[in-house]
Amino acid sequence: MASSHIALLLLPGSRPPLSRFRGGPVRCANERQALFSRIAPVYDNLNDLLSLGQHRIWKRMAVSWSGAKEGDCVLDLCCGSGDLAFLLSEKVGSSGKVKGLDFSSEQLAVAVSRQYMLSKSCYKNIEWIEGNAVDLPFSNCFFDAITIGFGLRNVLDRYKAMEEVYRVLKPGSTVSVLDFNKSDHEVITTFREWMIDNVVVPVASGYGLAKEYQFLKSSIRGFLTGKELEEIALAAGFSSAKHYEICGGLLGNLVATR
Ligand SMILES: C[S@@+](CC[C@H](N)C(=O)[O-])C[C@H]1O[C@@H](n2cnc3c(N)ncnc32)[C@H](O)[C@@H]1O
Repeated sequence: MASSHIALLLLPGSRPPLSRFRGGPVRCANERQALFSRIAPVYDNLNDLLSLGQHRIWKRMAVSWSGAKEGDCVLDLCCGSGDLAFLLSEKVGSSGKVKGLDFSSEQLAVAVSRQYMLSKSCYKNIEWIEGNAVDLPFSNCFFDAITIGFGLRNVLDRYKAMEEVYRVLKPGSTVSVLDFNKSDHEVITTFREWMIDNVVVPVASGYGLAKEYQFLKSSIRGFLTGKELEEIALAAGFSSAKHYEICGGLLGNLVATR
């Protein structure tokens, strides 16, 4: 069966074949939590170094795609050290509210200290929550917009996470999912893997984190293509889903509206 047809055959709310939407070789959520906690102290520096600062632009695009606006109540899921939450905070302003949720307390500790250090007055509208993307501690139809930056790929049950995102979004509202793009193009895949082996891992090994960043290669391989991301969103109930390739196809952004 052509994969693009799978979502169409699902009844609303029915569960797609889960193995298609489960993630990579690190099978246990605790292992992933430990991995992100280990990299927390240097995560921001490495992002700047490895993307030459470009991740700031991609994150601004992701926030813009979420449709968040002044006064909104929004969620940054898998917020890590809070980059997207801070951008959302500037978008929704002091009259809005931002929740940043992550399951790594070490990442959240970095987010909290950045919130104090940056001391922008609108950042007071951010609340950090330790929690799991597959079991969100919010009531139905709670948020006006949601972002997920480099997070869904790392969640073991991505379908459940998308169902949760759908549940907590208000009707007509949008989730914007930024991540590496699992491209169909051989050249892009070869270039990306060459970069990971020859740039990312050697740089990370300078911080004693070679193994942690080697995981990136298999986690992108085990991720979903743009088409599959659209399918998973539609299967979870979203009324529209479109995946945009950015940065020459190295990254992608899913925009799904409830
Ligand atoms: C690569 S980091 C991205 C952080 C941030 N969004 C950014 O763009 O810089 C992925 C984050 O997802 C979090 N994460 C992974 N699985 C999760 C889950 N099931 N529930 C909550 N957070 C999760 C990790 O702890 C980590 O902080």
